[in-house]
Amino acid sequence: TRIFIPGDAGAVAVGADEVAGAFEAAARTRGLALDIVRNGSRGLYWLEPMVEVETSEGRVAYGPVAAEDVPALVDAMLAGEPHALRVGPTEEIPWLKRQTRLTFARCGVVDPLSLDDYRAYGGYRGLEQTLAIGPDATIEEVVQSGLRGRGGAGFPTGVKWRTVAGTRAEQKYIVCNADEGDSGTFADRMLLEGDPFVMIEGMTIAGIAVGATRGYIYIRSEYPHAVAAMKAAIETARRHGYLGREIAGSAFDFDMEVRVGAGAYVCGEETALLESLEGRRGVVRAKPPLPAHKGLFGQPTVINNAISLATVPWILAEGAAAYRDFGMGRSRGTMPIQIAGNVKHGGLYEVAFGVTLGELVDEIGGGTASGRPVRAVQVGGPLGAYFPRALFDTPFDYEAFAGKDGLIGHGGIVVFDDTVDMAKQARFAMEFCALESCGKCTPCRIGSTRGVETMDKILRGEERDKNRVLLEDLCHTMKFGSLCALGGFTPYPVLSALHHFPEDFDAPAPSLE
Ligand code: NAI
Ligand code: SF4
Repeated sequence: TRIFIPGDAGAVAVGADEVAGAFEAAARTRGLALDIVRNGSRGLYWLEPMVEVETSEGRVAYGPVAAEDVPALVDAMLAGEPHALRVGPTEEIPWLKRQTRLTFARCGVVDPLSLDDYRAYGGYRGLEQTLAIGPDATIEEVVQSGLRGRGGAGFPTGVKWRTVAGTRAEQKYIVCNADEGDSGTFADRMLLEGDPFVMIEGMTIAGIAVGATRGYIYIRSEYPHAVAAMKAAIETARRHGYLGREIAGSAFDFDMEVRVGAGAYVCGEETALLESLEGRRGVVRAKPPLPAHKGLFGQPTVINNAISLATVPWILAEGAAAYRDFGMGRSRGTMPIQIAGNVKHGGLYEVAFGVTLGELVDEIGGGTASGRPVRAVQVGGPLGAYFPRALFDTPFDYEAFAGKDGLIGHGGIVVFDDTVDMAKQARFAMEFCALESCGKCTPCRIGSTRGVETMDKILRGEERDKNRVLLEDLCHTMKFGSLCALGGFTPYPVLSALHHFPEDFDAPAPSLE
């Protein structure tokens, strides 16, 4: 019998390794032959560790399973009896069934390190198509698909590729940004751990399309499981002729390696990431020149987020039109949305653009884990705006969020209940910026520290009206005067908290007892 127990870091954090050990022990004492596969997570984190058993009717899920549940679970499975932790056939779980999994089609399904599994589930069909139609038509497909950068900025991926393809140079590079630093986000990590070959295939297609022969995947140091999975998958791909010279028997060469960050949030900013890759401190470079013209080691570079690159194989395999069919307005295709914070059903929810924030939080997320009313959600990481319930009709779409002074960023949603103090959250945003600032420009380096001081005065009740005006003025300077998004977007959480939750800034000053 095949049993699937996620090796995903999120599942391991809640005991998946112990559960796997308990299954091995239970099989030994009962003389059973179990084939345990350490798959990625399906992304239903409230059910992790979620164990799946292969049966004649497909895979059946149980969760959340603890190590001490395992002996009784194995006995019930052998006797064909029901068990309290049985969720049902995995594919029929409504939370999973309602999704449109294109980028995440294989995550949680396959053995992440098995190239055979990858190919059996459609892997490398995108590369075959690229080899059949050639570089120019590949770029055209990506342009036509409408895919926009999933790191957050939403710049059209195909247009970026076209810029690099059209820039003449001896050496070009593909860089995958997997420095996933936003609060409440874990999509890159899940994919790197659960389907690493799709990253390799996406980067290989990008390399062939723009004429780059070397790639680097920059992974944050907090993701050791992802680093291990990627390194193992790269070696396997190389051994089977999918990396190196004459890929898959073609005339194209492409090879790649893993680089690990050192814990700086700003290294997710593309130019700071390139500095870090070159061995220097992660300090932001002024643009222009764009990385597409002068990027890594001064050469034309495609730098894309992990999810953007991982979506490319699907687009090539199924066609641009199939991808374009999903979505709304200028936001085409699907978005892997990550629901986190104080929420009942947190996890990875891939769906076409257009679903409303309210549906995501109340219906799909099921409201708060604490059972108290939802008061605010922060969308798009620590630099994203706080939205009150009054904005829950906003559809998940780049332009719709921008229209309400927010951003979808990398698709992370963090839910807060009615015990949240929004003035403290606003102070936290400034403090975060002060801590993570690379120090290159004044509005961010100095503005964030002055911002924390001003927030403290407001919190202490000192000249509230005057300091509120000062804070708004400072936010304006940071928004328009900062060199990169860290300083430039910190005003979003601060001002949204101030505008949507003004009552929290009027609270009586704490007594000085
Ligand atoms: P940006 O708008 O400056 O650039 C977007 C991308 O398009 C860059 O790669 C840029 O080089 C490229 N580009 C722009 N014009 C181009 C042209 N004419 N030809 C070719 N390429 C071109 O935005 P930036 O500063 O890179 O990113 C800001 C975003 O990052 C924010 O929207 C925020 O949501 C997101 N973010 C994501 C985080 C994460 O963990 N994923 C963390 C923090 C912020
Ligand atoms: Fe550095 Fe902040 Fe300026 Fe960005 S905004 S370049 S992080 S100092």
